[in-house]
Amino acid sequence: MRESGIAFFSSLTLHSLSMAFVVGINFVVALRVVGFAPRLEIAALCRFYVIHWYAAALIFISGSALLLAYPAKALTNPVFYIKLCAIIIGLLISKRIQSTFSNKPDVSIDSTCIKLAYLSIVLWIVTLTAGRFLAYTHSILLASRFY
Ligand code: HEM
Repeated sequence: MRESGIAFFSSLTLHSLSMAFVVGINFVVALRVVGFAPRLEIAALCRFYVIHWYAAALIFISGSALLLAYPAKALTNPVFYIKLCAIIIGLLISKRIQSTFSNKPDVSIDSTCIKLAYLSIVLWIVTLTAGRFLAYTHSILLASRFY
């Protein structure tokens, strides 16, 4: 992973493409839940969750590949753990919103859902920012510097 340019950059490309689907779909659904585009049916938007979960699997695979390249760089950086926590909570919220609205066109939006949607928006911004900042905030690049 570290020595092959193709392996590293194809993983990074896959990571970016799948993040576009994961973050994009979550953003669209969350913005709809908080009140944007009220004529769009949330149940119809929820059909995108199928693509979302495939993209989420790809982001974990490509993220693990990137992690393999420079494990010490990410695992010694607190920003990496902030990112992982934000992803996990964000995906749990996605599951909750999906099960609330999928195939239920008549369900009303309660205040808990609105709060969760706002939290989801914040968490995906945190994830994106933390992901990008991983490259600039590490203090250790390779564990080999210790032996
Ligand atoms: C929706 C979830 C995720 C988002 C939005 C996200 C976002 C990002 C972003 C924006 C970057 C920087 C890309 C670049 O340099 O152009 C990145 C890199 C990276 N991500 Fe993710 N990521 C996600 C999931 C994961 C997961 C699950 C893992 C680990 C299992 C992971 C591990 C990494 C690693 C190791 C890097 C390379 C950091 C570096 O440049 O040193 N990511 N991610």
